[in-house]
Amino acid sequence: MKQADVIIIGSGIAAMQLANELRHDLNVIILTKSKLENGNSYLAQGGIAAAISKNDSPHKHVIDTLEAGRFHNDLDAVQALTKAAPSLIYHLHQEGCKFDQNNDGELLLGMEGAHSEKRIVHGGGDATGKTVMDFLASQTKPNINIIENIFVFELLTSKGKCYGAKGKYANHKVETFYANHIVIATGGCGQLYRYTSNAETVTGDGIALAYRAGAEIADMEFIQFHPTLLYTNGKTRGLISEAVRGEGARLITKYGKFIMEGVHPLGDLAPRHIVSQTIYEYIRNGEEVFLDISDVENFSSRFPTITGLCKKHGVDIQEKLIPVAPGSHFLMGGIKTDLIGSSSLQGLYAIGEVACTGVHGANRLASNSLLEGLFVGKRLADWLNTNHVKENINLDFNFYKEAGEVALPKLHEIKDSMMDNVGIIRTKVGLLKQKQWLDNFHITELLDANLEDYTTDELTKIFMLITASLITESAIQRTESRGGHYRQDYPHENDASWLRKQIIHKRNIKG
Ligand code: SIN
Repeated sequence: MKQADVIIIGSGIAAMQLANELRHDLNVIILTKSKLENGNSYLAQGGIAAAISKNDSPHKHVIDTLEAGRFHNDLDAVQALTKAAPSLIYHLHQEGCKFDQNNDGELLLGMEGAHSEKRIVHGGGDATGKTVMDFLASQTKPNINIIENIFVFELLTSKGKCYGAKGKYANHKVETFYANHIVIATGGCGQLYRYTSNAETVTGDGIALAYRAGAEIADMEFIQFHPTLLYTNGKTRGLISEAVRGEGARLITKYGKFIMEGVHPLGDLAPRHIVSQTIYEYIRNGEEVFLDISDVENFSSRFPTITGLCKKHGVDIQEKLIPVAPGSHFLMGGIKTDLIGSSSLQGLYAIGEVACTGVHGANRLASNSLLEGLFVGKRLADWLNTNHVKENINLDFNFYKEAGEVALPKLHEIKDSMMDNVGIIRTKVGLLKQKQWLDNFHITELLDANLEDYTTDELTKIFMLITASLITESAIQRTESRGGHYRQDYPHENDASWLRKQIIHKRNIKG
């Protein structure tokens, strides 16, 4: 048993920002299921959006964020995020985080889809996530204890308050952690899909943990599919940043057709859902789609990570054509929180991609995700630094029931069925088929079951099934198309008042 003031589950940018910004007299434990460098934040390429050029303003950043989010966003949250962005960047830069600069020491700004100005701050060319994460990891103080390779499988709650978490080490030993503040920062759920840009660790754990414990979960139907993942031999192999199109690359078929021409006024830099749906239709019709990089200057020095990825998978960038396909990239929904990360369950917070602050609406604007992690991580730290009071921990927890025998599917069955039925293009028939398939696994029983005896592989699947069922259910309910949720049978946005609300899932927990 271990006790702390703040327990953070997950170790991406939001988690590290929170931990570093907390008072140094607060004991912090970070629990991460793999290694610090194995999460999504390390993989982030494009950058961090901030209105810092002289032509730009937070107001323009607000407009672009709302437009990409198809006006499903929380306006106050968007205004607060975009206003804070420049100072978050300057602060990191002054502290020593090495963003790319020109010879005069000014930050270089890139362009990405659906932005009206160049505002993408980047590091290491296309290794922005690694640049920031290495910097944040180098700043940790002795009050922060990082425990790697522990899988958190249960939140401990009592009388509507969260007091702790149980985790399982690789050797199956279970350990209980107590704190007055439990923060989930486990990222999204990209691995629920066959094609994804996400790290292997990103399997929806935080959503399932919070839902099981009784917290509200919102907007789960909104999944962003990134248009361009490297695609060879029928598999996606990692991200080809949107910044590549920002530098002039264009989407083309092998017969030389520029596929975004006439589809959207912004062409190749249209919002991601439009570009993904367009590419997906071509691939479904048996065509291959490429990024034509002939017009990108100094490709390998501007994009060293992507150059390495292409080389690793046998794609010669001298031929100027990179084969691509869309894949799941980001969850706009998640654990419903306010702008300091408070969930509907007392004592439980969520920050980063796992949270739904409402800032991204129905589709996230490129390079607003690292930004949100930095922003909410800092706000929660500021709040806890002034409001933390040590309370007695109530050890009279709710206990889960013994689980019966549950047969679990194979991992690829979850990913394939989600891709085919709840992916880029959805229909009522496909969604109901997926719901029926998920019903085979007795998810309602799993929600109440004591999971202590399951292996971490089984726990991963259980959490994936729970998260998949929330996405599927929400996608059935939302009978319109908006941002990351596209229904072929309801292809337009519908501004009926009931559809303008969030779809929220919550379990009633007794006691
Ligand atoms: C990219 O580099 O294209 C991804 C950046 C993002 O998801 O914001």
